[in-house]
Amino acid sequence: MFVVVGVTGGIAAYKAVQLVRLLVQEGHEVHVVPTDDALRFVGLPTWEAISRNPVTTSVHDDVPKVRHVALGQAADLVIVAPATANTLAKMAAGLADDLLGTTLLATTAPVVVAPAMHTEMWRHKATVANLTTLRARGVHVIGPEDGELTGGDRGPGRMSEPDAILGAAYGALAAGDLAGLRVVVSAGGTREPIDPVRYLGNRSSGRQGVAVALAAAGRGADVLLVAANIDSGVLAAASAHPRVRIATVTTTAQLQAAMEDAAPERDVVVMAAAVADYRVADVADRKLTKEDAAGPGRTLELVENPDILAGLVAARRDGQTVVGFAAETPDEGETLVDRGRRKRARKGVDLLAVNEVGWGIGFERDDNALVVIDAADRIAAEAHGTKREVAEALWDAILAARGS
Ligand code: C5P
Repeated sequence: MFVVVGVTGGIAAYKAVQLVRLLVQEGHEVHVVPTDDALRFVGLPTWEAISRNPVTTSVHDDVPKVRHVALGQAADLVIVAPATANTLAKMAAGLADDLLGTTLLATTAPVVVAPAMHTEMWRHKATVANLTTLRARGVHVIGPEDGELTGGDRGPGRMSEPDAILGAAYGALAAGDLAGLRVVVSAGGTREPIDPVRYLGNRSSGRQGVAVALAAAGRGADVLLVAANIDSGVLAAASAHPRVRIATVTTTAQLQAAMEDAAPERDVVVMAAAVADYRVADVADRKLTKEDAAGPGRTLELVENPDILAGLVAARRDGQTVVGFAAETPDEGETLVDRGRRKRARKGVDLLAVNEVGWGIGFERDDNALVVIDAADRIAAEAHGTKREVAEALWDAILAARGS
């Protein structure tokens, strides 16, 4: 997950260091946005070292990357810890006079705040009113705890402990329009062995399928991600997500077994994996060498693989939605949408997500463009942008097709 941690100017900032550390240890991509005041308590090098990402407080840094809104847009989750009375007031008013303010206004991700302040400030009517406003807007509030405060006094105002904040953050993620939905997503590309060291494969990185899985989990679904030959770096955020379980497979036969095993208990089945159409008829036990070839060339006999999607469609149960992907290189005389319509009908899927591929388009890139065709041959969604943005549009189309 992409997590933004806002840190504001309270002594509890030192405890936020541990929170950032926990998030990084769990495999999340963490960006810390301190206020200027927060840096008087814990310095910038600490945040950069712990988060392993550059840190800035100013909306005027990194302007070409529109950093003042980019962090908020990319975030799956924003945590503000500690949240001072001042920051809570600014949030309630919607002020955006620093990078944390703009980030909070630009995000649609769940926001969790962990207030920390002296008891008098916590109980002040202004703070109480600000918290009421923020809660009404869906902001999740964790703590503060009752206990000893920095001045030696006691009362509510201590920031919650980092592991409690993390638990609250995961809880906040559970609320979403896919909550309660059980989904299985295949991603990556299958590999068919030729001999113990070689295989037939394809260029699918798995990024789009992983984005589909993460988008679903981010919206509250319970996700099984069947990952075929995906780099651990691409899988990192999914591995860390509490609602994503990963099953790894290599060959088409393994992918088929995993999907057929999972599908009966899943409400939505998304086949985003690039499946090898053929496998090698006789896989060699030993490494093939040029010496044991009959002549200057070599012929490999291939046999057709089963169409996994066709099997899933045939076994589809009531209330289940089956979604296919099609990577197409457009032909002269036929649009991508027309090809998509024909393929959707042939495959019998509820929805088909079509994307254009070619040398340098579609694969191994961070952005993508998709057209989603529904069972009535309508364009249910058309999206281009990051793979995550495209994935969100696909889930909107899936929800619409399910009539919810
Ligand atoms: O026919 P085509 O390979 O373009 O169809 C792509 C869709 O079918 C994808 O959703 C892919 O995961 C699925 N597929 C499959 N089994 C195969 C080949 C493709 O499930 N053997």
